[in-house]
Amino acid sequence: MFITVFGQKGGVAKTCSSVHIAAGWSQKQKRVILVDADRNRSATAYGARGLLPCPVVPIEAAAKATRAAEIVVTDGQASSNDEELKNLVEGSDFILLPTTTQSRSIELTVEMSQMLNQYQIPYAALLVKVDARKEASADQATELLQGFDITVLKARIPLLSAFEQAETEGVTVDRAIDKRGRANPRRMTGWLAYCDASQEIEDLVNDHREQNPVESPIGWDFTPLEHRLAA
Ligand SMILES: Nc1ncnc2c1ncn2[C@@H]1O[C@H](COP(=O)(O)OP(=O)(O)OP(=O)(O)O)[C@@H](O)[C@H]1O
Ligand SMILES: [Mg+2]
Repeated sequence: MFITVFGQKGGVAKTCSSVHIAAGWSQKQKRVILVDADRNRSATAYGARGLLPCPVVPIEAAAKATRAAEIVVTDGQASSNDEELKNLVEGSDFILLPTTTQSRSIELTVEMSQMLNQYQIPYAALLVKVDARKEASADQATELLQGFDITVLKARIPLLSAFEQAETEGVTVDRAIDKRGRANPRRMTGWLAYCDASQEIEDLVNDHREQNPVESPIGWDFTPLEHRLAA
């Protein structure tokens, strides 16, 4: 299964989401690789201390590294270039669009969804950095996105200092510790929200596969290659 995390806005937790959904599947004993396709290489930096539960590889090394993986999560390079988007769609089974409750982020997700609607690829928005004191704005964001026929995951990722602490330490949020070296008391809410998100994604991919037996979202015919591989 190939999952790409994508979005056009900086700082919408693309890297954080890639790391945590990949980690969620790793914990379920799946063979997962996180591919860093972003030129800023922040996923690679996040995983550099070797404390994440799955390997992180830069895109240039991905072909070989992902051979044995069951799930490949890609931290995508932000782009609105048609050709790049088409290639990205072709290489993915699902696209995750992390979105904050800010109007600019919602607008960009709507724009992206309109581009993605040209293809037969399942995608969904994931609300991130949701302030627990402002759940109403998250409800409003969900309604707005759904008004454009965009699937919004039920899981919402809370705004937590634990995420920044985790990134500094190079660990996932369930292992976040504060400045005093104590476990962050809210760390598990963040972790469980991402675990729920990865389960929802898996379900959406499976539903889409059942309803659309054609594997290639653009319609490229891979059967000659598959026949050669099977021979
Ligand atoms: N739920 C959250 N609560 C609080 N902070 C968060 C949360 N998710 C991510 N962050 C923090 O927000 C910052 C930006 O997140 P991240 O690097 O994942 O965004 P990005 O979309 O990958 O950014 P870029 O476009 O630069 O690649 C990081 O410091 C990260 O630790
Ligand atoms: Mg990033």
